Amino acid sequence: MTHTDVLVSPSILSADFLHLADEIRSIESAGADWHHIDVMDGHFVPNLTFGLPVIRQIKSVATKPLDVHIMVDNPDEVAAGYVESGADWLTFHIEASKDAIALAKVIRAKGAKVGISLRPTTPIESLKSVLPHLDLVLIMSVNPGFGGQSFMMEAPARIAAIAAMAKAAGIRHQIKISVDGGINPATAKLSLAHGADILVAGTAIYGAKDRRLAITTLKESK
Ligand code: DX5
Ligand code: ZN
Repeated sequence: MTHTDVLVSPSILSADFLHLADEIRSIESAGADWHHIDVMDGHFVPNLTFGLPVIRQIKSVATKPLDVHIMVDNPDEVAAGYVESGADWLTFHIEASKDAIALAKVIRAKGAKVGISLRPTTPIESLKSVLPHLDLVLIMSVNPGFGGQSFMMEAPARIAAIAAMAKAAGIRHQIKISVDGGINPATAKLSLAHGADILVAGTAIYGAKDRRLAITTLKESK
């Protein structure tokens, strides 16, 4: 894969929420491929962010796909609403879902691509039966809940394990592997070398003086 195949999904968690429409436009003109949108419910994770009305407003100004990551206790109940509100890719947590395969089918039937995320401590093997029903796996490289944390060095091996599991199942081409948390040029390089296809980054992009350069640097860090 060349660097042009690497997708960068800036996390709006690090954007200026008082000027969100301008931030969305700015990051698109800086070369963002997707918008990573972190929904936190104050239960599954201690932090609380935003829900459907904000997603709908982002959708009204975005021209790039919305990559929505729901860190909520009840994804089986609420996921469909996020697709209806504009999520092009919807990723829920395996730890929170009551029936991950059924939920993956619902999300696809609603017209979105479906992803599953795992906390850093959740065994990769827990994905085995659901993997054929997925379009994306989101490996958390920090404990979900907050931006600006340090990348956990266990993450690259977990990325490689997912890549190997998908390859063994003959579905590596249909699964995108994304990595989320503490991404900078050094941790991006490690992640890409272990099989990541998508880099999610908040601080390293929205927090950069030159966002275009930050995105290019991540893409070329391979
Ligand atoms: C953490 C979120 C991440 C976070 C990444 O729970 O899922 O998307 O915003 O932020 P940085 O890049 O600052 O670690
Ligand atoms: Zn996220």
